[in-house]
Amino acid sequence: MDKKKNISMAVIKRLPKYHRYLSELLKNDVDRISSKELSEKIGFTASQIRQDLNCFGDFGQQGYGYNVKELYSQISNILGLSKEYNTVIIGAGNIGQAIANYTRFEKIGFKLLGIFDTNPKLTGIKIRDIEIQDIDNLEMFLKENNVDIGIICVPKINAQKVCNLLVNNGVKGIWNFAPVDLAVPGDVIIENVHLSESLLTLAYLLNEKEDQKE
Ligand code: NAI
Repeated sequence: MDKKKNISMAVIKRLPKYHRYLSELLKNDVDRISSKELSEKIGFTASQIRQDLNCFGDFGQQGYGYNVKELYSQISNILGLSKEYNTVIIGAGNIGQAIANYTRFEKIGFKLLGIFDTNPKLTGIKIRDIEIQDIDNLEMFLKENNVDIGIICVPKINAQKVCNLLVNNGVKGIWNFAPVDLAVPGDVIIENVHLSESLLTLAYLLNEKEDQKE
C-alpha cells in the first residue's frame, strides 16, 4: 500500500463513490466487474476508472475485470475504514439529531459515543441509546474517552469555541456543519459539509439549462 502517499486529492474524492457502488455490487453477490461495466454504473469513464484504481495496485486483470470483494476491501483500507472511529456530536438540534439518528455511519465504522448541547431542555433526552449531555461535561468526556472526530452542529457564532474545546482536548478530526471557516492547528483535519453550496450549484445548473433553451 506504499503507493497510497502519491494519490491525488481528486482521486481520493472519488473513492467514496467507488466504495458505495462496490458495496452495492457485493450485496448483490457480484464477484467481478469490468471497468466498462463499472463505468456505466458509476458515471466515470472506463479509462478514468482504470487510472484511478491503478494508483492502488494491479487489481484488474485483462479479460477478467476487477474482483469486487478484493477491490472493495482495498478501497476500504485506503479510506481508513479498517478501523473504528469514535465520534461526538456537539449541538443536538435539527442537524445534530438527524446525524445521531442515522445508523449507517456506525455500520461503516463511525461510532457515536456522546451528544452534547447547552440547552437544559435537551439534556437527558436519549437519541437511540445515547443521552444528550450538558456541554459542561464535554471536557471531562474527552479526557476519559478516545474521541477521534467531533461533529459540529451548533450555530456559527459558537462553532469556533466548540472547535477549540474539541481540539484542545485532543480531537484530530472535525466534521463541521456550521457555515463558517474554522481555524484549526496544522495537525487537525477539518472537513466542511455545506448543503447549501450543493443546493446553490443545483440552482445554477437548472438556470443554465433554462438559458440554453432560450
Ligand atoms: P438548531 O438551532 O436546531 O440546533 C443547534 C443546537 O446547538 C441547539 O440545540 C443549541 O442549543 C446548540 N448549541 C448552541 N450553542 C452551543 C454550544 N456552544 N455548545 C453546544 N451546543 C450548542 O440548528 P440546526 O438547524 O441544527 O443547525 C445547526 C448548525 O448547522 C447551524 O450552524 C446551521 O447554520 C448549520 N446548518 C448547516 C447546514 C449544512 O449544510 N452544513 C444545513 C443547515 C444548517
